[in-house]
Amino acid sequence: MKTTIEGKIALVTGSNRGIGRAIVEALFERGASKVYATARDTAALAPLVETYGNRVEALALDVTDPDQVNRIAEQTNDAQVVVNNAGVANGANLFEGDLGPSRQEFEVNYWGSLNVARSFVPVILSNGGGALVNISSVGGLVNFPMFPTYSDSKAAVHSLTQGIRQLKKAEGLQVVGVYPGPVDTDMAADFDFEKASPASVAGEILDAVEAGAEEVFPDPMAKGFAEPYEAGAKTLERATIAMMEGAAAEA
Ligand SMILES: NC(=O)c1ccc[n+]([C@@H]2O[C@H](COP(=O)([O-])OP(=O)(O)OC[C@H]3O[C@@H](n4cnc5c(N)ncnc54)[C@H](OP(=O)(O)O)[C@@H]3O)[C@@H](O)[C@H]2O)c1
Repeated sequence: MKTTIEGKIALVTGSNRGIGRAIVEALFERGASKVYATARDTAALAPLVETYGNRVEALALDVTDPDQVNRIAEQTNDAQVVVNNAGVANGANLFEGDLGPSRQEFEVNYWGSLNVARSFVPVILSNGGGALVNISSVGGLVNFPMFPTYSDSKAAVHSLTQGIRQLKKAEGLQVVGVYPGPVDTDMAADFDFEKASPASVAGEILDAVEAGAEEVFPDPMAKGFAEPYEAGAKTLERATIAMMEGAAAEA
């Protein structure tokens, strides 16, 4: 299943900054006719509105509030491409301190994505089928111990993505899982890795949507995960541990 962006109506969560904002820009570059740019604070969407005028509609959306997600889905019932981008990484410690930050990672990353999927999959299907894009992480394929509970939450997003794909394939829904490595956004500001630009990642994501791919590894580090992912989860775990041991030995 593939979805051409030209002429489509799309909705992006967390589109006020980072990868979400770059996806809105990339959607317009490919000829999307309208984008619902959503964010917790609509004032933060002003630059997008200034650039794209009435082709962009700024809407308040906190993905952790299922009632609000439902209301927005009723209001944007012509959406054909929906991007579950909103996410948090709180750097929670597995063994020490309060578990609140870890719970919030699940609240936004997993439950927020599920809220959006529950409200918007029927909308996309009622518009003739289209694409649901879920942003997981390479940390969703193998746990990265520097952000262990974030990885847990993104593994849940990966599993959710597989589940929705299997459940809705026959109805014509394209479900794309995105597995980025480090991307140069506020979220990764403290990571000392080479980072891809949000614009290049957004471009790779939309290439995959248009090509009919089920998974996207949208940056140089993530691309190293594609082959072991195809080979199997244990191969991937071993390959990642070897990569991290190699990096530690070099440091
Ligand atoms: N950057 C990376 O290295 C990297 C790697 C792998 C995966 N990812 C994933 O890529 C996605 C985008 O991240 P990013 O790098 O662009 O990070 P970012 O710059 O920190 O942006 C995160 C976005 O999510 C929004 N958000 C947070 N909680 C929300 C909520 N409850 N409801 C709605 N929006 C909410 C933020 O809005 P506010 O401005 O209101 O906080 C912001 O727009 C995330 O899912 C992230 O996990 C990022």
